[in-house]
Amino acid sequence: MEFLLLHLFRSLMLLALLMQRVHSNEILGLKIPFDPILNANTVCLTLPGLTRRQLDLCMRNPDVTASAIQGIQIAIHECQHQFRGHRWNCSSLETRNKIPYESAVFSRGFRESAFAYAIAAAGVVHAVSNACAMGKLKTCGCDAKRRGDEEAFRVKLNRLQLEAIHRGKGMVHGVMEHFPAEALGPQDSWEWGGCSPDVEFGEKFSRDFLDSRETYKDIHARMRLHNNRVGRQSVTDHMKRKCKCHGTSGSCQLKTCWQVTPEFRLVGSQLKERFHIAVLIKAHNRNTGQVEPAHTPHRRRANELVYFEKSPDFCEREPGSDSAGTQGRICNKTSQELDRCESLCCGRGHNILQQTRSERCNCKFHWCCYVVCEECRRTEWVSVCK
Ligand SMILES: *[C@@H]1O[C@H](CO)[C@@H](O)[C@H](O)[C@H]1NC(C)=O
Ligand SMILES: *[C@@H]1O[C@H](CO)[C@@H](O)[C@H](O)[C@H]1NC(C)=O
Repeated sequence: MEFLLLHLFRSLMLLALLMQRVHSNEILGLKIPFDPILNANTVCLTLPGLTRRQLDLCMRNPDVTASAIQGIQIAIHECQHQFRGHRWNCSSLETRNKIPYESAVFSRGFRESAFAYAIAAAGVVHAVSNACAMGKLKTCGCDAKRRGDEEAFRVKLNRLQLEAIHRGKGMVHGVMEHFPAEALGPQDSWEWGGCSPDVEFGEKFSRDFLDSRETYKDIHARMRLHNNRVGRQSVTDHMKRKCKCHGTSGSCQLKTCWQVTPEFRLVGSQLKERFHIAVLIKAHNRNTGQVEPAHTPHRRRANELVYFEKSPDFCEREPGSDSAGTQGRICNKTSQELDRCESLCCGRGHNILQQTRSERCNCKFHWCCYVVCEECRRTEWVSVCK
């Protein structure tokens, strides 16, 4: 499935480049905001390798699929950030400016594979839910369960406004960032208002799209399904409430609150922590559809990443293990972390060179579905693994 997913991803990147060109021209000429046309023809039929079910899903929801693909892109960038000092640094999932390349990590059962599954699934939930809230998608919108009664709110606000006028005080409205639920005492009244992202929709789409190909119950399939779920949960478990105050100066007599998804950086960091404590599962426990051995309480592993194959050391180039080797990697002589030269260079030593390198920087994700980065050039002395 993952190879196909990457096909899909690559094709969308091509599509994106195409759109980007159109975009620039339009910007140069007219400065009109640009929303690409996302229909079944522009999204699904240009993507090779979809299964019947994925194609059906895409044909019915081309805009959601495009948004899901964008979520996977964001996830890959986050993966690269989280693994920047590691020997395996997630660069194989990047498809830009490369000859077609299929990352082997997805066909293996490593910890790294577990992380890659989880973060991609999380990226889909995140991107789709937020696209719903931004009103970009036809089939979803704000979370209906968290939508306040607009009329009742207006009535209350009017009453407050009248009171304020009587007392000769002005109305204030202030936003409280990421207000934790516990901090709202019982005396504080608040109600849902504004637009909360429909994470249930995002979660379901992520499940339908990413899990749908898993018809086998072998250990690899079970690992994938489990880690996909852990990834999705890292988004849904970290939804925050954001509130806005309305009331007379200095007061917060009326609050309206809505949910926001966690910053994707937080999702990446959480999953990275889980990467370190991932649980090795045994291959003999077959055909149950479960990754837990029967005697282990379910709770203990419900949120952990699982893997079934010991990772190689990723020191040497070995395509079958998705290892590019660390020759030529820049290491840090003074670091105590994984990027220190002894560790990153696997004991082979390093050279000190003056290098001018250009790297992608200030990347921005555009709706939908491309990434625009600037090119930053730097000249510096660096240690490079032999
Ligand atoms: C990641 O590893 C690849 C392959 O070894 C290397 O080409 C690339 O520069 C590395 N990226 C970073 C950010 O270190
Ligand atoms: C190397 O690591 C040290 C210690 O962690 C850090 O302060 C420094 O900025 C790093 N240097 C580079 C070039 O990344």
